[in-house]
Parts: sequence; C-alpha cells; structure tokens
Amino acid sequence: MATAAAEVDAGATTMSRYRVEPHLFVILGGTGDLTRRKLLPAMRRLASLDVLGDRRALLAVARDTEFDDDGFRGWAKGALEAAGMSEDEVRRLDEARLYYQPMPTGEADDYEALANRIQEIEGAHDLPQNRAFYLALPPRTFSSAIEGLASAGLNESAGWTRLVVEKPFGRDLESARELNREIHRHFTEDQVYRIDHYLGKETVQNLLVFRFANPIFESLWNRDRIESVQITVAEDIGIESRAGYYDQSGALRDMVQNHVAQLVALVGMEVPATFRADAVRYEKIKLLGAVAPISIEDVVFGQYARGTAGGEAVPGYLEEDGVDPESNTETFVALELALDTWRWQGVPFYVRTGKRLPRRLTQIAVTFQAPPVCLFESMGVCQTNPNVLYLTLQPDEGFALNVDVKVPGEPFELSTLPLDFFYKQVFGAIPDAYQTLLLDVLTGDQTLFVHADEAEASWELFGPLLEAERRVHLYRAGAWGPDAADELLAKRGHAWLEPVEHPDRSI
Ligand code: BG6
Repeated sequence: MATAAAEVDAGATTMSRYRVEPHLFVILGGTGDLTRRKLLPAMRRLASLDVLGDRRALLAVARDTEFDDDGFRGWAKGALEAAGMSEDEVRRLDEARLYYQPMPTGEADDYEALANRIQEIEGAHDLPQNRAFYLALPPRTFSSAIEGLASAGLNESAGWTRLVVEKPFGRDLESARELNREIHRHFTEDQVYRIDHYLGKETVQNLLVFRFANPIFESLWNRDRIESVQITVAEDIGIESRAGYYDQSGALRDMVQNHVAQLVALVGMEVPATFRADAVRYEKIKLLGAVAPISIEDVVFGQYARGTAGGEAVPGYLEEDGVDPESNTETFVALELALDTWRWQGVPFYVRTGKRLPRRLTQIAVTFQAPPVCLFESMGVCQTNPNVLYLTLQPDEGFALNVDVKVPGEPFELSTLPLDFFYKQVFGAIPDAYQTLLLDVLTGDQTLFVHADEAEASWELFGPLLEAERRVHLYRAGAWGPDAADELLAKRGHAWLEPVEHPDRSI
C-alpha cells in the first residue's frame, strides 16, 4: 500500500510525494463501464497529484474499429465529466498521452498488432518497457486475453510487466483454480494483481492500523475478551441494470466470497511478522483456511420482494428487467462463521450482506464481554451492557467505542455513550479505492491484492454453499433482510445490533 509507505499527509494530499517509474498503462476493455467510471478518473486524480511522472502513456484496447486515438480522447473527457470532475481537472487531461488500439477479433493477429503499437508508443514517449495490463473485461474472456498477451510475448519485457485481474475471480473453486493455472502458465505470481476493490478502501486498510498500531485493542482482540463479531455490508440499491450478471451470480459470489471474506480475514488474522505483502497475505490465507466448514443450517439466503427505497416504491427482484421470473438467486446472505483458531475459538462471527436493505452501510461491530457481576445493583442499576466497538467502513467512515458513564446527579443512572472519531471531520476527502490500487500496481506493491491461494481458500470455504440445497426467504425491499436472519442469531441468544448512526456534526 503505497500510501502507507510514503511520508505524506492525509486526505487530498496523500501520495503527493509518490513517483512511479516511466510506464505504459494498457487497459483491455478500454471503453467499458469500469474504465469510464473508475479507471480513467482514478488515473486523472493520480496525475493531478503529480505522482505519475512525465514519462507515461495510457493505451485503451477495445473491439470497436470505428474508434481511433482522437475518438478515445473525446470519450475520455466525457468520462471525467460524467465522474463529476471539475472543468479545470478535465481541461488538464493530457490527451497526447492517450491512445486507442482496436482489437476486432481477439485473435493472435490482434495481439501482434497490439505488441507493435506498444513498441511504437514506447518509442514516442521514450518509455522503458514497464507495462501494466489491466483486464477490465468480462470474466469469460480473461483466459483468452491472457493467452493472447502471452502469444505476442507481452507477458515479459525488458522492464516490468504486471497483470491486473478484476473480480469476479472464478465462479467456484474449480474455475478459480483453472484461472490461476492459466495465469501461472504465462505470468509469475509476483506479476499478478487480483483486484478486490474493498482492499483499496482507506477504512479497510485502517483495520490493520487500528489493530496493529494500537496495542490497547490488540491485547483485547481474542476469545477472552470478545463475545462476538458482526459484519454488515448493506446496500440500499437493487441490482440496477446488471441483471444479466447478477442473476447468474447472487450475493454469495458477488459479495461474500470476496469483499466479506476480506473483512473477516482482516479482523481475524494474526499479527503478520512484517508489513510486507507476502507476510500480510499469508496471514489472511491462514485465517481463511482455519474457518470451520459452514453448515447450511448456519446460512440464510434472502431475495428482496417489492418494498421501498428512499421513500419510493420499488419492484421486487423477480420484477427487475432481465431477471428470470422464477429465479432463486439470493440478493441477501447472512451466516455464522466459526474460526477454529486459538484466538477465536467459541467467538461467533456473524456476517450479513444484501441489496435493497435500509441503507448503504459497511460496519463491523465487535462486542466485548459484559461485566461479570452487577456491581451497582444496590443503587437500583444492573448494568450488563457490553462495550461495543463499531468500525464504520462506509459511508460515514470512522469508529465508535461505546462506554458506560454515570449520568450526573440523582438518581443513580448510567448512560452508554460513544468515544468516536470520523474521518471526514479530521481528514476531509478520502481517496477512492481505485486510486490507491492503481498507484500500488504502478509502484509494484501487492499488499492490497488477492494472492492466488487466498482466492482459492475463500472459494474452498464458501463454494460448497453454492451446491447445497437451499431455501431462499423473501424480504421486503427496505428491511434488514428476512426474519430468518434474526432467528439465526437468536439460536445463540444474540441479535443483530442496531447500526450506529453518524451524529450529525456539520461535516
Ligand atoms: C461490487 C459488486 O463488487 O461491489 C456490486 O459487484 C456491489 O454488486 C459493489 O454493489 C459494492 O461496492 P461498494 O464499494 O459500493 O461498497
């Protein structure tokens, strides 16, 4: 994570002392949605921060043969405008560094032509064959793109060559293994950057800092002091226009196997021996491998029915455009994980994620053990509230630790109040995840990318649930999932905690 290594300020100036080596950034899928919404704006912001250096170029590759360099330059400007960038920011786009290469068939000839074009651009900008290839492509085309790059000798160069692979990484354990084999036939693991954009979020990275820079918490971070952990990754949106993808995927593949698994790993992992990429990733792999096989009894699948979002009536999942009206695809998953480690034995990790929940919220709630006795009983108060630490990863990034205090005066009463901190109050704007991750690709830092073994360990854990006989419970759009999700916790005498709200303090 480049930002951590730099001696820089927080917020918008983060990274300002970073410089990457001269390079060519190649996007396969260069006129797609991801390029438009995320990659081009992130590269533009990095350029504004003056971290990319002067010797660089970007080459977009896509099927369209009608497009050319000029067409792409205009399109790129439109993308920045659509991403809400200021006029000044858009004007500063350095068009002379942007190129477009058509790839009409995706056959070997196209890759030969690509290799020639790359050499030509490198010659024009005096670039030393440092190349990043970003596969912003539909997953079904990953393999042929990897083969194509290798067939034209683009998997190695006199400088460095890096391959960035977007999610989803496989559809199950077997396909993830196959994709890893395919990648490793032509690229070594240290060339590969598997993206999980959650790892680029500042607050997700901060989980490591929170745990390992604050021994006060780390010393409590175990079964002796923690009673349970809850992880909520909630979205208020539905499936938008992604029915084609989502109906074949569902929440388990779309969110749990990747984003949620990463959060579980970061909360549960052991202290890495060093802060090097391999050490951090190794601890995550170990943790994922130590989670007990999940019983289907401990999983609840849900699908949203008609309801409301933002006060408006919204259709049910089966009524969404492009969804099979008989579909059994889950838009919500809740489950209990048992981490079979010395540290976590007996501490349930409850996880829930879904679409069309009441609001967008990613929050980790760590509940500590309640006081062992009612010391204040003689004062008419039996306070058994445990301390709860809420780590809010989005949208109101920050944390709150609930503690009990005495209410001044009589009668003797206690009140639970938060010790809290919110990023926006202190640091202002937070860099976008893609900005962080692209800079890491260009500086060669793999800490925030998913290792081959990590992707497989996560599929090994969650993959069997894809095969299991399942019941999908309906929930009203705008509710916190089906009642069965509450019953799941009630079995153990627990309940989902009310998410903590950001106190509106004019930020
Ligand atoms: C993506 C999923 O990976 O993450 C989407 O495919 C989901 O379905 C998105 O909406 C959530 O990301 P974020 O950053 O908005 O929490």
